[in-house]
Parts: sequence; C-alpha cells; structure tokens
Amino acid sequence: MHSLESNIDHILITEKQLKDRIHELGAKITEDYKDKQLLLVGILKGSMMFMADLMREIKINTRIDFMSVSSYGSGTVSSGQVRIVLDLNKPIEDYDLLIVEDILDSGATLHYIKELLSARRPRSFRIVTLLDKPSRRKADIQADYSGFVIPDEFVVGYGLDFDENYRNLPYIGVLKPEAYEK
Ligand code: IMP
Ligand code: MG
Repeated sequence: MHSLESNIDHILITEKQLKDRIHELGAKITEDYKDKQLLLVGILKGSMMFMADLMREIKINTRIDFMSVSSYGSGTVSSGQVRIVLDLNKPIEDYDLLIVEDILDSGATLHYIKELLSARRPRSFRIVTLLDKPSRRKADIQADYSGFVIPDEFVVGYGLDFDENYRNLPYIGVLKPEAYEK
C-alpha cells in the first residue's frame, strides 16, 4: 500500500460525500448572504481545502481573508492554549464575517477567535465548520453551519493533519491509533 495511506484505518467521509455536502452548504450560505457583505475568513492551515471548495459553491460576491492561530502541539489532544500567528489584513466593520474552520473540537480555538474578532465589530459573525465533534466540547460555542457531526475519533485528510502530515489526502480518514501512540 501507498505509504501515505498505510496509517489510515478507514475512510470516514469519502470525496463524493464531501463534495455533495459542501454543495449544500454553499447553496444555503448563498441564500442567507444574498443581501449581505460576505467576508469568508479561513482558519489556517486546516481549512484550506474546505475553503477552496466551499467558496466555489458560493454564488454571490465574497471576499476572503485568512487567520492562523496555534492551539495544538503535535499531539492529538488540545492544549486549550490559543495564540495568534497571523492576523487579518484589513478592518472588518463593513463585513458580515463567516469563519471557515476545519473542525470544532473542544471549541477553545473558535471561542478565542470569536472574542477577538467580535471586539472589532463586524456587521455579523457566524461560523461554518466542516466537521463537528460535539462530545468533546468544553467552550460555550456552536457552529451556525456544520458539514458533518463525527464521533470522538482523531481524523486526518482534506486539510486536517496529524503532526503536519496527511493534509493532502482527498478524503477524511481515521488514523490508526498505533500511528500516534508510538
Ligand atoms: P479545538 O480548539 O479543540 O476546538 O480544536 C480545533 C483545532 O484542533 C482544529 O482547527 C484542528 O486543527 C485541531 N483538531 C481537533 N480535532 C482534530 C482531529 O480529529 N484531527 C485533526 N485535527 C484536529
Ligand atoms: Mg491542526
């Protein structure tokens, strides 16, 4: 087997399932934001594939920007500590912000981002997450749009990493425990 895939236990969400669901999310966002000033804010690096596919399914004018925060070390459990690594380029008060995130886990990352960006007074603030693990939530935060609710398993691919690897897999897969337990 290809070495990239040899540590994948099984595929959780296929390319086709991702494509179909992102098409639905794009249609919903298109409708909800048709009279708004949409600004998509991707949280690097995990959201980059989702952002690229989602924006193509949004059929109204939109701008994009990116933020990078760091919350994880190289392990699979969140440290709860969040630090800003790259900030937005421009003021946001004239825009309806839609944060684009790969996965909502403990919620610490998005809670921090929400506090930080709400203080800059955007016209509105919402969150779209591709994946949601509600069983692990610690912070008081919900997504306004969510692609898939998933069980408490560590997943990789389609932008999501383990120790910066596996982001280039085109599907969402579950990592074999022996890949991170050693
Ligand atoms: P939270 O702050 O605990 O909600 O964690 C959010 C961030 O943790 C995400 O943006 C991911 O980078 C990372 N993360 C959480 N769960 C997973 C997972 O199952 N696979 C890969 N990354 C994850
Ligand atoms: Mg990550």
